[in-house]
Amino acid sequence: MPLFRRDHPREQGSADPPASTVARTRGAREPGWRSFDDVAAIYSRSLELKTEPPAADLIELLQVPTGARVLDVGTGTGAAARHAAAAAGEAGLVVGVDPSVGMVREAASRDAGPRYAASTSIDLPFRDGTFDRLAGAFVISFFTDYRTALFELLRVLRPGGRAGFAAWAEGEDQDEFRRAWAEVQEEFAEPEVLADAHHEAVPWEELFSNKDRLKDALHDAGLRDIWIERRSYRVETTTEQYLTGREITPTGRFLREMLGDELWPSFQRRAREVFASRFAERFTDFHEALLAVGHKP
Ligand SMILES: C[S@@+](CC[C@H](N)C(=O)[O-])C[C@H]1O[C@@H](n2cnc3c(N)ncnc32)[C@H](O)[C@@H]1O
Repeated sequence: MPLFRRDHPREQGSADPPASTVARTRGAREPGWRSFDDVAAIYSRSLELKTEPPAADLIELLQVPTGARVLDVGTGTGAAARHAAAAAGEAGLVVGVDPSVGMVREAASRDAGPRYAASTSIDLPFRDGTFDRLAGAFVISFFTDYRTALFELLRVLRPGGRAGFAAWAEGEDQDEFRRAWAEVQEEFAEPEVLADAHHEAVPWEELFSNKDRLKDALHDAGLRDIWIERRSYRVETTTEQYLTGREITPTGRFLREMLGDELWPSFQRRAREVFASRFAERFTDFHEALLAVGHKP
Protein backbone atom coordinates (compact mmCIF):
# COMPACT_ATOMS: atom_id res chain seq x y z
CA MET A 1 0.00 0.00 0.00
CA PRO A 2 1.60 3.33 -1.03
CA LEU A 3 2.28 5.77 1.79
CA PHE A 4 0.93 8.85 0.07
CA ARG A 5 -2.61 9.13 -1.19
CA ARG A 6 -4.58 11.98 -2.70
CA ASP A 7 -7.20 13.66 -0.53
CA HIS A 8 -9.46 14.91 -3.34
CA PRO A 9 -9.97 13.85 -6.94
CA ARG A 10 -8.82 16.28 -9.61
CA GLU A 11 -11.51 17.76 -11.83
CA GLN A 12 -11.94 15.54 -14.86
CA GLY A 13 -11.24 16.94 -18.32
CA SER A 14 -9.82 20.24 -17.11
CA ALA A 15 -7.32 21.63 -19.62
CA ASP A 16 -5.97 24.22 -17.19
CA PRO A 17 -3.45 23.31 -14.55
CA PRO A 18 -5.01 23.21 -11.08
CA ALA A 19 -4.22 26.25 -8.94
CA SER A 20 -2.27 24.16 -6.46
CA THR A 21 -3.04 20.49 -6.65
CA VAL A 22 -0.09 19.42 -4.59
CA ALA A 23 -1.11 21.72 -1.77
CA ARG A 24 -4.13 19.45 -1.56
CA THR A 25 -1.97 16.36 -1.27
CA ARG A 26 -1.69 14.86 2.17
CA GLY A 27 1.53 15.79 3.85
CA ALA A 28 2.52 18.31 1.16
CA ARG A 29 4.56 21.31 2.21
CA GLU A 30 5.51 24.42 0.29
CA PRO A 31 6.65 22.99 -3.05
CA GLY A 32 10.39 23.72 -2.77
CA TRP A 33 10.71 20.45 -4.66
CA ARG A 34 9.61 22.30 -7.81
CA SER A 35 12.85 24.27 -7.95
CA PHE A 36 15.95 22.90 -9.69
CA ASP A 37 18.16 24.84 -7.23
CA ASP A 38 19.48 21.91 -5.24
CA VAL A 39 20.00 19.51 -8.11
CA ALA A 40 22.03 21.58 -10.59
CA ALA A 41 25.32 19.70 -10.21
CA ILE A 42 23.55 16.34 -10.54
CA TYR A 43 21.59 17.65 -13.55
CA SER A 44 24.88 18.41 -15.33
CA ARG A 45 26.04 14.82 -15.13
CA SER A 46 22.72 13.03 -15.64
CA LEU A 47 19.73 14.74 -17.30
CA GLU A 48 21.91 17.03 -19.40
CA LEU A 49 23.18 13.93 -21.25
CA LYS A 50 19.61 13.60 -22.48
CA THR A 51 18.80 17.27 -23.23
CA GLU A 52 22.11 18.36 -24.74
CA PRO A 53 21.88 16.55 -28.14
CA PRO A 54 18.40 17.93 -28.99
CA ALA A 55 19.42 21.35 -27.62
CA ALA A 56 22.40 21.29 -30.02
CA ASP A 57 20.08 20.36 -32.92
CA LEU A 58 17.72 23.17 -31.98
CA ILE A 59 20.55 25.70 -32.21
CA GLU A 60 21.53 24.28 -35.59
CA LEU A 61 17.94 24.65 -36.86
CA LEU A 62 17.93 28.25 -35.61
CA GLN A 63 20.84 28.99 -37.98
CA VAL A 64 22.60 31.31 -35.58
CA PRO A 65 24.80 33.68 -37.63
CA THR A 66 28.19 34.90 -36.48
CA GLY A 67 27.76 37.96 -34.29
CA ALA A 68 24.13 37.14 -33.39
CA ARG A 69 22.46 38.03 -30.11
CA VAL A 70 20.79 34.93 -28.71
CA LEU A 71 18.54 34.44 -25.68
CA ASP A 72 18.31 30.94 -24.19
CA VAL A 73 15.30 30.85 -21.89
CA GLY A 74 15.13 28.17 -19.18
CA THR A 75 18.81 27.69 -19.88
CA GLY A 76 19.31 25.27 -16.97
CA THR A 77 22.95 24.21 -16.98
CA GLY A 78 23.44 26.05 -20.28
CA ALA A 79 23.38 23.24 -22.86
CA ALA A 80 21.72 25.28 -25.64
CA ALA A 81 23.50 28.51 -24.62
CA ARG A 82 26.93 26.90 -25.06
CA HIS A 83 26.05 25.69 -28.57
CA ALA A 84 24.63 29.11 -29.43
CA ALA A 85 27.82 30.79 -28.18
CA ALA A 86 29.93 28.49 -30.37
CA ALA A 87 27.80 29.45 -33.40
CA ALA A 88 27.64 33.19 -32.66
CA GLY A 89 31.39 33.41 -32.04
CA GLU A 90 33.23 36.12 -30.16
CA ALA A 91 31.36 38.90 -31.90
CA GLY A 92 28.04 37.46 -30.69
CA LEU A 93 26.23 37.77 -27.39
CA VAL A 94 24.46 34.81 -25.79
CA VAL A 95 22.40 35.22 -22.64
CA GLY A 96 20.95 32.32 -20.69
CA VAL A 97 18.13 33.01 -18.23
CA ASP A 98 16.59 30.69 -15.67
CA PRO A 99 14.67 31.30 -12.43
CA SER A 100 16.84 28.76 -10.64
CA VAL A 101 19.92 30.46 -9.22
CA GLY A 102 21.45 27.02 -8.63
CA MET A 103 21.14 26.12 -12.33
CA VAL A 104 22.46 29.48 -13.49
CA ARG A 105 25.47 29.17 -11.15
CA GLU A 106 26.20 25.70 -12.45
CA ALA A 107 25.92 26.94 -16.05
CA ALA A 108 28.27 29.85 -15.35
CA SER A 109 30.83 27.51 -13.78
CA ARG A 110 30.95 25.39 -16.94
CA ASP A 111 32.00 27.83 -19.63
CA ALA A 112 32.95 31.47 -20.06
CA GLY A 113 31.09 31.91 -23.39
CA PRO A 114 27.48 32.79 -22.56
CA ARG A 115 26.33 35.25 -19.89
CA TYR A 116 23.72 34.12 -17.42
CA ALA A 117 21.02 35.79 -15.34
CA ALA A 118 18.45 34.51 -12.88
CA SER A 119 15.05 35.42 -14.33
CA THR A 120 11.78 33.80 -15.29
CA SER A 121 10.35 34.26 -18.74
CA ILE A 122 8.02 36.99 -17.45
CA ASP A 123 9.24 40.62 -17.20
CA LEU A 124 12.51 39.90 -18.94
CA PRO A 125 15.06 42.64 -18.27
CA PHE A 126 15.60 43.35 -21.99
CA ARG A 127 14.29 45.96 -24.42
CA ASP A 128 11.90 45.04 -27.22
CA GLY A 129 13.64 43.40 -30.17
CA THR A 130 16.99 42.88 -28.39
CA PHE A 131 17.69 39.39 -29.73
CA ASP A 132 18.16 37.88 -33.20
CA ARG A 133 17.46 34.36 -31.98
CA LEU A 134 15.48 32.88 -29.12
CA ALA A 135 15.92 29.30 -27.87
CA GLY A 136 13.91 27.37 -25.28
CA ALA A 137 14.95 23.77 -24.72
CA PHE A 138 12.57 21.67 -22.63
CA VAL A 139 11.16 24.66 -20.80
CA ILE A 140 7.81 25.72 -22.31
CA SER A 141 6.00 22.85 -20.58
CA PHE A 142 7.06 24.39 -17.25
CA PHE A 143 5.52 27.83 -17.88
CA THR A 144 2.57 28.44 -15.57
CA ASP A 145 0.87 30.64 -18.16
CA TYR A 146 2.53 29.73 -21.44
CA ARG A 147 0.60 32.30 -23.50
CA THR A 148 1.87 35.21 -21.39
CA ALA A 149 5.38 33.76 -21.33
CA LEU A 150 5.51 33.32 -25.12
CA PHE A 151 4.18 36.85 -25.62
CA GLU A 152 6.98 38.21 -23.43
CA LEU A 153 9.63 36.08 -25.10
CA LEU A 154 8.60 37.24 -28.56
CA ARG A 155 8.67 40.84 -27.34
CA VAL A 156 12.44 40.65 -26.90
CA LEU A 157 12.95 38.99 -30.31
CA ARG A 158 13.49 41.41 -33.20
CA PRO A 159 11.10 41.34 -36.18
CA GLY A 160 12.53 38.83 -38.65
CA GLY A 161 14.28 36.97 -35.82
CA ARG A 162 13.86 33.23 -35.30
CA ALA A 163 12.59 31.39 -32.25
CA GLY A 164 13.00 27.67 -31.56
CA PHE A 165 11.64 25.36 -28.89
CA ALA A 166 12.33 21.75 -27.98
CA ALA A 167 9.84 19.54 -26.13
CA TRP A 168 9.62 15.81 -25.43
CA ALA A 169 7.37 14.06 -27.93
CA GLU A 170 4.35 11.85 -27.29
CA GLY A 171 5.26 8.35 -26.16
CA GLU A 172 8.60 9.52 -24.76
CA ASP A 173 7.78 8.01 -21.35
CA GLN A 174 6.57 4.64 -22.67
CA ASP A 175 9.61 2.42 -22.39
CA GLU A 176 10.56 -0.42 -20.07
CA PHE A 177 12.91 1.78 -18.00
CA ARG A 178 10.29 4.45 -17.39
CA ARG A 179 7.73 1.77 -16.56
CA ALA A 180 10.08 0.13 -14.06
CA TRP A 181 10.77 3.52 -12.47
CA ALA A 182 7.03 4.29 -12.30
CA GLU A 183 6.33 0.92 -10.69
CA VAL A 184 8.83 1.60 -7.90
CA GLN A 185 7.44 5.11 -7.37
CA GLU A 186 3.96 3.66 -7.11
CA GLU A 187 5.05 1.32 -4.33
CA PHE A 188 5.60 4.49 -2.29
CA ALA A 189 2.91 6.92 -3.50
CA GLU A 190 -0.38 6.55 -5.33
CA PRO A 191 -0.21 7.17 -9.10
CA GLU A 192 -2.73 10.04 -8.69
CA VAL A 193 -0.49 11.80 -6.17
CA LEU A 194 2.49 11.47 -8.50
CA ALA A 195 0.42 12.64 -11.48
CA ASP A 196 -0.74 15.69 -9.49
CA ALA A 197 2.84 16.56 -8.59
CA HIS A 198 3.97 16.16 -12.18
CA HIS A 199 1.09 18.28 -13.42
CA GLU A 200 1.86 20.92 -10.84
CA ALA A 201 5.49 21.21 -11.94
CA VAL A 202 5.16 20.59 -15.69
CA PRO A 203 1.56 21.55 -16.51
CA TRP A 204 1.90 21.59 -20.31
CA GLU A 205 4.02 18.52 -21.01
CA GLU A 206 1.17 16.60 -22.60
CA LEU A 207 -0.02 19.56 -24.66
CA PHE A 208 3.41 20.32 -26.10
CA SER A 209 4.25 16.69 -26.75
CA ASN A 210 1.78 16.90 -29.63
CA LYS A 211 3.14 18.33 -32.87
CA ASP A 212 -0.10 20.01 -34.00
CA ARG A 213 -0.88 21.53 -30.63
CA LEU A 214 2.67 22.82 -30.25
CA LYS A 215 2.41 24.38 -33.70
CA ASP A 216 -0.95 25.99 -32.88
CA ALA A 217 0.40 27.47 -29.64
CA LEU A 218 3.43 28.96 -31.38
CA HIS A 219 1.25 30.29 -34.22
CA ASP A 220 -1.18 31.85 -31.72
CA ALA A 221 1.81 33.48 -30.02
CA GLY A 222 2.71 35.18 -33.32
CA LEU A 223 5.37 32.96 -34.91
CA ARG A 224 5.08 32.22 -38.62
CA ASP A 225 6.53 29.67 -41.09
CA ILE A 226 6.68 27.18 -38.23
CA TRP A 227 8.64 24.05 -38.97
CA ILE A 228 8.39 21.12 -36.55
CA GLU A 229 10.45 17.95 -36.66
CA ARG A 230 10.31 14.86 -34.52
CA ARG A 231 13.77 13.44 -33.91
CA SER A 232 15.01 10.31 -32.13
CA TYR A 233 17.92 10.26 -29.74
CA ARG A 234 19.78 7.52 -27.91
CA VAL A 235 21.78 7.89 -24.75
CA GLU A 236 24.18 5.22 -23.52
CA THR A 237 23.78 5.18 -19.76
CA THR A 238 24.55 3.23 -16.61
CA THR A 239 21.80 2.27 -14.20
CA GLU A 240 23.24 4.66 -11.64
CA GLN A 241 23.28 7.59 -14.07
CA TYR A 242 19.75 6.81 -15.19
CA LEU A 243 18.35 6.54 -11.67
CA THR A 244 20.22 9.62 -10.47
CA GLY A 245 18.62 11.50 -13.36
CA ARG A 246 15.12 10.22 -12.58
CA GLU A 247 15.55 11.13 -8.91
CA ILE A 248 15.92 14.80 -9.84
CA THR A 249 12.93 14.99 -12.20
CA PRO A 250 9.97 16.89 -10.71
CA THR A 251 8.24 13.73 -9.47
CA GLY A 252 11.52 12.37 -8.13
CA ARG A 253 12.11 15.58 -6.18
CA PHE A 254 8.50 15.57 -4.98
CA LEU A 255 8.80 12.01 -3.72
CA ARG A 256 12.05 12.76 -1.98
CA GLU A 257 10.43 15.62 -0.11
CA MET A 258 7.40 13.51 0.76
CA LEU A 259 9.40 10.52 1.96
CA GLY A 260 11.89 12.57 3.96
CA ASP A 261 15.37 11.52 5.04
CA GLU A 262 14.11 8.42 6.76
CA LEU A 263 12.28 6.74 3.88
CA TRP A 264 14.10 8.13 0.84
CA PRO A 265 17.04 5.67 1.16
CA SER A 266 14.55 2.76 1.13
CA PHE A 267 13.08 4.09 -2.10
CA GLN A 268 16.55 4.46 -3.63
CA ARG A 269 17.52 0.93 -2.59
CA ARG A 270 14.31 -0.50 -4.00
CA ALA A 271 14.80 1.28 -7.36
CA ARG A 272 18.34 -0.13 -7.66
CA GLU A 273 17.13 -3.60 -6.69
CA VAL A 274 14.41 -3.58 -9.37
CA PHE A 275 16.73 -2.23 -12.08
CA ALA A 276 19.46 -4.75 -11.21
CA SER A 277 16.95 -7.59 -11.47
CA ARG A 278 15.62 -6.49 -14.89
CA PHE A 279 18.31 -4.67 -16.81
CA ALA A 280 22.00 -4.79 -17.60
CA GLU A 281 24.30 -2.40 -15.76
CA ARG A 282 24.66 -0.34 -18.97
CA PHE A 283 21.79 0.21 -21.39
CA THR A 284 20.58 2.46 -24.20
CA ASP A 285 17.85 4.92 -23.39
CA PHE A 286 15.87 6.15 -26.43
CA HIS A 287 14.14 9.53 -26.59
CA GLU A 288 11.86 11.35 -28.99
CA ALA A 289 11.88 15.14 -29.14
CA LEU A 290 9.98 17.77 -31.10
CA LEU A 291 12.05 20.63 -32.44
CA ALA A 292 10.01 23.64 -33.53
CA VAL A 293 11.35 26.74 -35.27
CA GLY A 294 9.52 29.77 -36.64
CA HIS A 295 10.12 33.44 -37.31
CA LYS A 296 8.63 36.65 -35.98
CA PRO A 297 7.14 38.70 -38.83
C1 LIG B 1 14.22 20.47 -17.94
S1 LIG B 1 15.16 21.87 -17.53
C2 LIG B 1 15.86 22.28 -19.13
C3 LIG B 1 17.16 22.99 -18.97
C4 LIG B 1 17.96 23.21 -20.27
N1 LIG B 1 17.27 24.08 -21.20
C5 LIG B 1 18.29 21.90 -20.93
O1 LIG B 1 17.83 21.68 -22.07
O2 LIG B 1 18.99 21.07 -20.32
C6 LIG B 1 13.91 23.12 -17.34
C7 LIG B 1 14.49 24.44 -16.88
O3 LIG B 1 13.46 25.43 -17.01
C8 LIG B 1 13.56 26.31 -15.90
N2 LIG B 1 12.26 26.98 -15.75
C9 LIG B 1 11.16 26.56 -15.08
N3 LIG B 1 10.18 27.47 -15.17
C10 LIG B 1 10.66 28.50 -15.92
C11 LIG B 1 10.13 29.75 -16.35
N4 LIG B 1 8.90 30.11 -16.04
N5 LIG B 1 10.92 30.57 -17.09
C12 LIG B 1 12.17 30.20 -17.42
N6 LIG B 1 12.73 29.02 -17.03
C13 LIG B 1 11.98 28.19 -16.29
C14 LIG B 1 13.97 25.41 -14.74
O4 LIG B 1 14.54 26.14 -13.66
C15 LIG B 1 14.94 24.46 -15.42
O5 LIG B 1 16.27 24.93 -15.33
